Amino acid sequence: MSDKYSDKRFATRAIWSGTQNIEGAASTPIFLTSTYRLTDERYQGWADGAQHTALYSRLSSINSEGVAQKVAALEGAEDGETFASGMSAITTTLLALLSKGDHIVASPDCYGGTYGFMTEDLPRFGIEVSMADIRDPSSYEAAIQENTKILYVETLTNPVLKVCDLEAMAAVAKKHGLIAIVDNTFATPWSCNPISMGFDLVIHSGTKYLGGHSDLIAGIVVGSKELVAEIFPKKVHLGGAADPHMCYLLERGMRTLHARMPIHAANSAELASRLEAHPMIESVNHTSLLSYTDHEVAQRIMPRGSGMLSYVIKGGDEAALRYMRALELIFEATSLGGIESLVECPFNSSHMFVPEEVRAEAGVIPGFVRMSVGIEDVEDLWADMHQALTTANAFLETRA
Ligand SMILES: Cc1ncc(COP(=O)(O)O)c(C=O)c1O
Repeated sequence: MSDKYSDKRFATRAIWSGTQNIEGAASTPIFLTSTYRLTDERYQGWADGAQHTALYSRLSSINSEGVAQKVAALEGAEDGETFASGMSAITTTLLALLSKGDHIVASPDCYGGTYGFMTEDLPRFGIEVSMADIRDPSSYEAAIQENTKILYVETLTNPVLKVCDLEAMAAVAKKHGLIAIVDNTFATPWSCNPISMGFDLVIHSGTKYLGGHSDLIAGIVVGSKELVAEIFPKKVHLGGAADPHMCYLLERGMRTLHARMPIHAANSAELASRLEAHPMIESVNHTSLLSYTDHEVAQRIMPRGSGMLSYVIKGGDEAALRYMRALELIFEATSLGGIESLVECPFNSSHMFVPEEVRAEAGVIPGFVRMSVGIEDVEDLWADMHQALTTANAFLETRA
């Protein structure tokens, strides 16, 4: 994918790379069409494999191409494909690159949908899966077998916010001739560019920070031309194409990624430090905190941070629920990465079906709250959290 803005800085690429100024439009118009007139050029594109040819919108559309180009430009990747969801990007990529008899190493800290696909579905196709510690690249190395093909990680995990040492992980993959894949959804390309650290493929749920407004579901894979070309025909077979209208929204969202992310990061860092000093809080996970286990590795891998924050409220899950239900401004919902602050307790939502002892082992202990910090005024967010913590405290006192 050629990008005439490739020598420009991040903010300029976010605004202009991939955006198609058709008929002089300042943004890519929406092409609500399922099919395109077959011209000589399109017949040639079809004969050449159809990738990046707007023939039929399950293959590519003008809008999906714009999005793929923009994400590739932001990640410093050669090529990319757009999908109907993050899960579609993940499953299509893995089904394209793995065959019966192959083996993949991943981590139980990966997103629940990814973990479920790996543990419940891949084995049905004769693909072996081993789980290792995302914080310890040597555990991934120890799990490598003769038939291993892929090492799969996430930059920043959900909901404990463990940081993967992507440089060390890529070195392990390179040493063993394996494909290194990372889900960079939580960190975003504003904070971390895994390709520059040696990763082969980078996946995003575009639903989160890239879209940024909680109004769409999308997925993207970017990486080497060769690997993306292997994935494209499986996208065509599996049918998880991104529709043009969603791509328009996603492209629009990404044009302000660089403007939104510093506020997400600053707000979440400020709330993390205030929470740390609050008597109702047992512990706080945020990459900016000196007290945080992965602080040092985060400064190297994703130095600008992200808006994700998690904390443990004294009094267990019941106190956490009282706190959450007392919030007036902050919205109780799953998902993340939008301009509005969202909060959830993993025990009754994202991790409901994970046994308590498995949750505890991962660090999701009673009282755990995950928060996607938005870009509202930080004083309003803190005032809401403070009054809700006071309510939770009053509940604890009545119980005592
Ligand atoms: C890290 C991560 N990857 C992938 C996904 C799946 O994305 P989608 O919901 O767009 O399919 C999610 C969803 O929450 C996620 O958090």
